[in-house]
Amino acid sequence: MRFPTAFLACSMASLAAAGAFAQSQDGPPAWAYPVNPPNFQRTPDDGTIRRVPDSAAGFTLTQVRDLFAAPDWHPDDHPPMPEIVATGRKPDVFACGVCHRADGPGGPENASLFGLSAEYIMQQTAEFKTGIRTNSVPRVATDLMIKLSKAVTDQELREAATYFASIKPRSNIAVVETDTVPKTRVRDLFLAPLDGAGKEPIGPRIVEIPDNVEHFVSRDSRARFIAYVPVGSVQKGRALAANSNLRVQCAACHGADLKGTAVAPGIAARSPTYMFRQLYDFKSGARKGTHSELMKPVVENLSIDDMIALVAYSASLVP
Ligand code: HEC
Ligand code: HEC
Repeated sequence: MRFPTAFLACSMASLAAAGAFAQSQDGPPAWAYPVNPPNFQRTPDDGTIRRVPDSAAGFTLTQVRDLFAAPDWHPDDHPPMPEIVATGRKPDVFACGVCHRADGPGGPENASLFGLSAEYIMQQTAEFKTGIRTNSVPRVATDLMIKLSKAVTDQELREAATYFASIKPRSNIAVVETDTVPKTRVRDLFLAPLDGAGKEPIGPRIVEIPDNVEHFVSRDSRARFIAYVPVGSVQKGRALAANSNLRVQCAACHGADLKGTAVAPGIAARSPTYMFRQLYDFKSGARKGTHSELMKPVVENLSIDDMIALVAYSASLVP
């Protein structure tokens, strides 16, 4: 009887140690590139009509997962979606509004598009297409983005880009500085809190989770997120962004309050997990592009902790 208990305690301890060890290793951090566990299976659809707050619409799980039909929970929030955003074009152009949501807030698993310039949106899609923009860790979601970028026509892309550029960006993230975070697991490429599992130290991580997992799964465009960041990150990020040892100011290109300029996209109030991936990918070379050279000297001397601080700060700004 004593042996199994001791064995269990021992393997739990070594698991915990392995977790801490993985966090301290070099290489792309797992929290920024969540990968589904082996044997992962999506929750089956039991036919229930799903609802989200302040919407008269209802969709099944199968419908919210359909890559050719963006669930439009709040049609009054945005102008009519161009066809390519709403339904895409079979077989390879998945509807932009499914992953990036109907009016473009996106989520930590992809990117927000609202408020970006149409030129930037077209340029980035072209760079996915030529293969110079990828992630440091292969990701299913990005593979789909790459696949559709090869099939979308210039006209369709222009319509989608003009649409997302016309929508005013809004903040959907609460940045919370903390020492401890809810324990999480990877669920369909995103981090979800493990109900009743308690808390653990945050360590050098950002833990960005949906405020309400079911609304997020439903692709509610008004879904909100909590981004837990290490204590002191926002102030440290503000100082770094304003120069200190970087020799550059983020605002020199990204504009006052990082709202964006003709040179560089806005980075205020956007998913810190997505933003972190980009800094990491610029540094690793996984993300390249016509204008990415401008970011090269910026990221060269950034540590993981610096990147965490910078994106905690940018996420805390108003768009
Ligand atoms: C299957 C999901 C999916 C669909 C559908 C999709 N995207 Fe994406 N998109 C992604 C992912 C994932 C990323 C972010 C990759 C990363 O983390 O680097 C992305 C990133 C982008 C970016 C880069 C944003 C930035 O700030 O640099 C643009 C632009 C973009 N998508 C445009 C589009 C357009 C236009 C469409 C429709 C024609 C579309 N996407 C459809 C998954 C998708
Ligand atoms: C010299 C100009 C310049 C400076 C300084 C600069 N950036 Fe950038 N940044 C860019 C450009 C240009 C892009 C778009 C790159 C591309 O087209 O691939 C970019 C892209 C980014 C992105 C990805 C945005 C997206 O939508 O995917 C992030 C994140 C970012 N910068 C963060 C920062 C931070 C943080 C700083 C300060 C530490 C900073 N940048 C300083 C020019 C700059």
